[in-house]
Amino acid sequence: MKKKILALMLVCSMAAALAACGSKEAAAEPAAEETEAAEDEAAEEEAAGGTLVMATNAEFPPYEYHDNNEIVGIDVEIAQSIAEELGMTLQIEDMAFDSIILAVNSGKADIGVAGMTVTEDRLENVNFSDSYATAAQVVILKEDSEIATVDDLAGKTIGVQLGTTGDIYADDIEDATIERYNKGFEAVQALSQGKIDAVIIDREPAKVFVEENEGLKILDEEFTVEEYAIAIAKDNEELLEKVNGALAALKESGKLDEIIAKYITAE
Ligand code: ARG
Repeated sequence: MKKKILALMLVCSMAAALAACGSKEAAAEPAAEETEAAEDEAAEEEAAGGTLVMATNAEFPPYEYHDNNEIVGIDVEIAQSIAEELGMTLQIEDMAFDSIILAVNSGKADIGVAGMTVTEDRLENVNFSDSYATAAQVVILKEDSEIATVDDLAGKTIGVQLGTTGDIYADDIEDATIERYNKGFEAVQALSQGKIDAVIIDREPAKVFVEENEGLKILDEEFTVEEYAIAIAKDNEELLEKVNGALAALKESGKLDEIIAKYITAE
């Protein structure tokens, strides 16, 4: 008996929900106002391909950074182009760098695009797309620093962005003290202020930070060479294939090079 009542209540509430839905649509129909038309369009678009949610950490120029109130950069444009290839709508979620893989694995985001280096450790937790860029870790120093080689970093105080490959490599330097910052930019500031001796960070952001802050230079010797790729949950093989297909199309058409050239001038 109880079950029957419950079932009835369920049917009723479902009917009510349906009725509410129906009336909403009916109400929207005659009103041809622009905003509603735009909403309908957006809804249609979503219905067509769905939303592609990108997790990133927009503290990493020229790959992702804030420009006024917008998040822009190479990764944003690549993700936007992939979404277009897949007929999807891109949505950006900005978060701490070390939350990105978690976001992808919990389903909070579909793709992690953040100048993220493919590493063995990360491969244990996520899949990576094909690579879309070759990068390197470099050392930023004060112009008058006595540090001349990577070996000279032993025993020094080194700033990194928390959870990045720079953090991992700094860990291997003999007797070094590591200062971890939430943003790469904060590490660079600490270096400018003489609080630390060096910053290990990716080359392109390093170039931007050195340009923006007087009295800094990049050590000629590179630390490591790395590949950037897009992180996708292990149980989402289908999306991995789609993203790789879209990436291949962007490489083929020259669009990928075009996006990179817009932000990085070749030396
Ligand atoms: N390539 C480095 C890594 O994967 C740093 C990436 C930092 N990216 C960012 N959007 N803050 O660990």
